[in-house]
Amino acid sequence: MGDAIVASRKPFYKELKAGRSYLWCACGRSKRQPFCDGRSHEGTGIEPIRYDCTVDGEEVLFCGCKQTATGPFCDGAHSNIPGGYAEEAERAEDLPWAESDAEGIRSLDGHCYVIAAEATRPATAGDWWCRTIVSTAMGAQHQAQFYGELRRGRSPVLASPAGDVVLWTMAGQGNVEISGRSFPLARDMGVYVRGGEAFRFTQQGDAPLGVHIHACPATDALDELATMPDDFDARWPDRTVGVDENQRHAMGPRYFQMLVDKRIGSTTATQFIGHIPQSRAEMHRHLYEEALIILSGEGVIWNEGVRARVRAGDVIFFPRKHRHSLQCTHPDGMDVVGLIHPGDNPGINY
Ligand code: FES
Repeated sequence: MGDAIVASRKPFYKELKAGRSYLWCACGRSKRQPFCDGRSHEGTGIEPIRYDCTVDGEEVLFCGCKQTATGPFCDGAHSNIPGGYAEEAERAEDLPWAESDAEGIRSLDGHCYVIAAEATRPATAGDWWCRTIVSTAMGAQHQAQFYGELRRGRSPVLASPAGDVVLWTMAGQGNVEISGRSFPLARDMGVYVRGGEAFRFTQQGDAPLGVHIHACPATDALDELATMPDDFDARWPDRTVGVDENQRHAMGPRYFQMLVDKRIGSTTATQFIGHIPQSRAEMHRHLYEEALIILSGEGVIWNEGVRARVRAGDVIFFPRKHRHSLQCTHPDGMDVVGLIHPGDNPGINY
């Protein structure tokens, strides 16, 4: 059997028609990429893979590098082939800088923006304050995000009216109670709250507890409940995920580790932590919507017509299919936590 050869170092974006079958070229030799031309695979021992579309308008990324383990679709393997994660050819130095508004938001093209999570902390904030970072009113379609800070004591009992909640502990320590079950909370931890459950925080130690609260599907506000329900879903007992270097996946010069995802029960959102070395990636897009929290380092994000500096504490919101590049300018690199939906593989780009 011959080896598959690289037809393209990027996947092919296609909108499919319900009721039609698509024959994907697996050998890389077809002249009709990404589809089979009926003869070029002869003698290779590699057969094309058929895909039957049942949903009209389905958007897919057919693998072009032919190294995917999830054929016919891209699984991100192209980032690890030579030239797969290229440095940016175009440069962004001539683009204007995005201006910051009164809310600390810098808008780029489309609905892409950068927001400083703590920028509008009220001067007279009480023990608990919370602001909206991502919402449908701000241009998102699939997710919402809030930043909450607890100086002491307990937060209100919170719940998303829309479904799953995923947390990221940005600062401090304490615990989170999920519908009657308590979990210790330390810095740099992902937490999963199933749809229908409620949660509240208790602060411990000297520093305030700072938490990013993602809701997926999107909602414009969290509910505050009068009491904590006692309906923890014990079918999914593990709810916290820490950082583990042994779980990293390479993506070109970058790497990422999955945090909250379907392995611990998440039905919608996928959370990951990643590291970007001092580098500039070429412009690319994703089929998923993404909110990216900058944990450390600094850099520059740009689209077609605008750029913005980013640093620790900022959140970047990327709409689906939005062309962008993120350059890390810090010699120690940049650590980020992302939440993506729809989709469960942050390594896929096109
Ligand atoms: S193009 Fe082959 S894995 Fe993405």
